[in-house]
Amino acid sequence: MKAATSQTNIFSIDTLRKNLGKKRLVWLSIGIIIVIVAATIIPATLVLTKKSSTTLATVGTTTNSTTLTTDGTTVNNTTLSTIRTSTNNTTLTTATTTAKSASTITTEIITTTPTSKAWVQLNQMNELRIYHTASLLLDGRVLVTGGEREKTGLNTAELFDPDTGIWSLVNPMNFHRERHTASVLKDGTVLVTGGLSRENSLVSSEVFHPNNQTWTITDDMNDGRYGHTATVLSDGRVLVTGGGESTDSAEIYDPLNRTWTKTANMTRPRQWHQASVLLDGKILVTGTSPKALHANTDHYKDMGCNTEIYDPVTETWINITNMHVSRYFHTATVLLDGKVLVTGGVSTLDMKTTELYDPETGKWAQTSRLNTGRGIHRALLLASGRILVTGGLHRLRETKNVELYDPFNKTWSLIDAMNCGRSGHTLLTVRNEAVLAIGGIRRNIQCSAELFSP
Ligand SMILES: *[C@@H]1O[C@H](CO)[C@@H](O)[C@H](O)[C@H]1NC(C)=O
Ligand SMILES: *[C@@H]1O[C@H](CO)[C@@H](O)[C@H](O)[C@H]1NC(C)=O
Ligand SMILES: *[C@@H]1O[C@H](CO)[C@@H](O)[C@H](O)[C@H]1NC(C)=O
Ligand SMILES: *[C@@H]1O[C@H](CO)[C@@H](O)[C@H](O)[C@H]1NC(C)=O
Ligand SMILES: *[C@@H]1O[C@H](CO)[C@@H](O)[C@H](O)[C@H]1NC(C)=O
Ligand SMILES: *[C@@H]1O[C@H](CO)[C@@H](O)[C@H](O)[C@H]1NC(C)=O
Ligand SMILES: *[C@@H]1O[C@H](CO)[C@@H](O)[C@H](O)[C@H]1NC(C)=O
Ligand SMILES: *[C@@H]1O[C@H](CO)[C@@H](O)[C@H](O)[C@H]1NC(C)=O
Ligand SMILES: *[C@@H]1O[C@H](CO)[C@@H](O)[C@H](O)[C@H]1NC(C)=O
Ligand SMILES: *[C@@H]1O[C@H](CO)[C@@H](O)[C@H](O)[C@H]1NC(C)=O
Repeated sequence: MKAATSQTNIFSIDTLRKNLGKKRLVWLSIGIIIVIVAATIIPATLVLTKKSSTTLATVGTTTNSTTLTTDGTTVNNTTLSTIRTSTNNTTLTTATTTAKSASTITTEIITTTPTSKAWVQLNQMNELRIYHTASLLLDGRVLVTGGEREKTGLNTAELFDPDTGIWSLVNPMNFHRERHTASVLKDGTVLVTGGLSRENSLVSSEVFHPNNQTWTITDDMNDGRYGHTATVLSDGRVLVTGGGESTDSAEIYDPLNRTWTKTANMTRPRQWHQASVLLDGKILVTGTSPKALHANTDHYKDMGCNTEIYDPVTETWINITNMHVSRYFHTATVLLDGKVLVTGGVSTLDMKTTELYDPETGKWAQTSRLNTGRGIHRALLLASGRILVTGGLHRLRETKNVELYDPFNKTWSLIDAMNCGRSGHTLLTVRNEAVLAIGGIRRNIQCSAELFSP
């Protein structure tokens, strides 16, 4: 069955993003013309003025004017960042170059106080990334792999050390990958699977060895996948489900012989779905996109809300009751009491709906709505039992907005926003205390990572 045109409104994120891209391109072109004209008429008199210096109380200012560069008449922007090694201490110093008049170029060195009290910007990554992965290694460092930059898949990988605040590039992966998965295996290595590479769904997978920072290619998966899920089972094997153009297949990686074996198919194709490990070790799979189902809006309304559970012991899928709302690009987080909180995502309704799955009754219940509708956002369980929800696309723009769900009174509260809007980012806890939000931004690489202390 071919997709009907009426589905446009539920696919609209990609469509509008393309349009948005064109609009930005026009502004960028106008910007380039202005810079060329300015560079032609403005003589190369460079006046450095230290304008303002607002620092966080705890940190000194770095105003290293010697790193400012001139390139003919063009003065390049320079970013000087002093990054602290603790989670409660930062400053970000940006040297901004502006043409004040036809005869003078003024460089202002401004130390910015982050706009958010709770979130502090960290050193920038080596690459801008969206749809990358971030994994917490056993030694506390964070491995970031691949992702998209300007519509191109990346093969680069970098490590973040939360103790020093330093990002370092490591050996690149063997393949360019975005919308792939990364899972930390029991032995501390990281299994990376599938992804999109030059518009192809990859069947390949590879393993990162933190000891020597190298990659080893494993057996190929049976199906190409991107926008799929990968879940480490309690016996150490890894279950991948769905993804690709439209697949209901699932397969399991065994780290002992490094091979993939097909397991039972899901009841329907799924992409941009979620897989959550329940307390009993079974896997709850929620949501799918209308594209994966080849469904129009009406069919999607009934089919996208289907959920199912995988039992790794019997290797079978079990049908359970449907969610109230069909959705994809949502989040699904297991709470301390074992219930699963699903938030937002793209759906036939607005993007503020949330629901809770209770494994004891096998039923879904709608719970309080998000303050801000969002999709391609991220959610994380905090040690307090609350759920932190960050960013995502809201009205087709990356939002900075952050909210916290309290499972005891079942309410959402908007809290300090991030410094930058993000979607398709990653969110994880480092040092058992602070939350790291990485990437998910298209420009402004200075803002590539920030830290939240709950
Ligand atoms: C913040 O960083 C500065 C400079 O590195 C250091 O002197 C100061 O003790 C730090 N403050 C805290 C609270 O960690
Ligand atoms: C300032 O610039 C000098 C010369 O380029 C460089 O050696 C030094 O490391 C810089 N200091 C900082 C804090 O960036
Ligand atoms: C300054 O920017 C221009 C244009 O982006 C670039 O060609 C040049 O290499 C830059 N110069 C330095 C010193 O970074
Ligand atoms: C701030 O950082 C310092 C130095 O790392 C640490 O000793 C202190 O406990 C931190 N305070 C808070 C409130 O996190
Ligand atoms: C420098 O950065 C500022 C602020 O981001 C921007 O407005 C300005 O156009 C940039 N200048 C150059 C020469 O890139
Ligand atoms: C890196 O370490 C892994 C596991 O210890 C090993 O299998 C692999 O051969 C090593 N790679 C290199 C290039 O030394
Ligand atoms: C690898 O182990 C799995 C059991 O986990 C088995 O089903 C599969 O056949 C094995 N593959 C090879 C090539 O030995
Ligand atoms: C999964 O479904 C495909 C057809 O969509 C079929 O060819 C394949 O045999 C099924 N696999 C299993 C393990 O049932
Ligand atoms: C699960 O549900 C789907 C769709 O509702 C149906 O096609 C399938 O037969 C069901 N499977 C079982 C085992 O009940
Ligand atoms: C729910 O609890 C949070 C604290 O965890 C509090 O901020 C919020 O005001 C409470 N909401 C209601 C409606 O009681």
